[in-house]
Amino acid sequence: MPSLPFPFPVVRWEDEQVILIDQTLLPEKLAWRRCGDVPALCRAIRELAVRGAPAIGVAAAYGLALSWRLAAAEGLDGQARRERFRDDSRSLAATRPTAVNLFWALDRMGKAAEDLWGRGLDDAAVQAGLLAEAGAIMDEDLAMCRALGRAGQELLPDFATVLTHCNAGGLATSGYGTALGVIFAAKEAGKTIRVFADETRPLLQGARLTAWELATQGIEVTVLCEGAAASALRAGRIDAVITGADRIAANGDAANKIGTYPLAVMADRHGVPFYVAAPASTFDGATPGGDDIEIEIRDPEEVRRLAGVPTVPESVGAWNPAFDVTPNDLITAFITEKGILRPPFQESLRVII
Ligand code: MRU
Repeated sequence: MPSLPFPFPVVRWEDEQVILIDQTLLPEKLAWRRCGDVPALCRAIRELAVRGAPAIGVAAAYGLALSWRLAAAEGLDGQARRERFRDDSRSLAATRPTAVNLFWALDRMGKAAEDLWGRGLDDAAVQAGLLAEAGAIMDEDLAMCRALGRAGQELLPDFATVLTHCNAGGLATSGYGTALGVIFAAKEAGKTIRVFADETRPLLQGARLTAWELATQGIEVTVLCEGAAASALRAGRIDAVITGADRIAANGDAANKIGTYPLAVMADRHGVPFYVAAPASTFDGATPGGDDIEIEIRDPEEVRRLAGVPTVPESVGAWNPAFDVTPNDLITAFITEKGILRPPFQESLRVII
């Protein structure tokens, strides 16, 4: 099984390009995808070569540094270069609608660019400034994940078994993770934690990515079909459910990978705490509630095939929402870099939004 140092570089800037771990190839192959222009990066985001809310934000931030470099290399004049930057920002924003971290990072890069342009700097200095801002977004994400991991691990007793869904690990962030960050922090605190990882149909982020990350870090992990989660909860095998989030509305409703909501319902039914681990960049004070969150609908072929092989009769269609919304009343607490935030969320979330 391929492995990496930890925390690992999910996104990096090298040879004047954006380099990503190609997550579509894991766990079979650990390979990097080079994005030499913004359309290539947009494709990588759409195809989930880079995925997970914070990681998409970091990749897009580097994408705007790339945009500026290419426009300067083409010799576009100042005005045309700025227009290219704004066009590229719109293209990146159009890749995936649900994770707010993408829009948060693009907005932050846009503000940094306006500031750099306003200072009348030369191309190289603007380029350096944009790269520094993208690097800061990545470094801050790593620091937030470490901090929320430390806060969250306090919730777990030694020898706890945690059920998680999709991949909210290092691959989905800047290398450490949110839901998995809590597990890694518990391990660093000397605890033995076991993980049940939902396989996460249709694209198997739990089976392919979460299981790979945990196994490479020496954490005991067992993959189960989503349909088996209720049985594990009913049998008393799970001490806590921890997931990440793609966008958390002002009222605490949380969008995450499709299949998270039923997990929260089942956890509630069986009296198991359901925690959502997320950094500040995932909270969206401008979105009042879960019904206001746009849910990405992906290609039905992702459901109709498994590893390229048809699993549904040719004449039958499929519905493929990528995310669902867990209502705030099913969430025991948010695990954040500002600590554990419990209901009533209208009040407790004020430390973040
Ligand atoms: O479609 P994906 O793989 O990008 O979905 C990712 C998730 O749903 C994660 O749980 C979420 O982004 C949190 S990542 C820390």
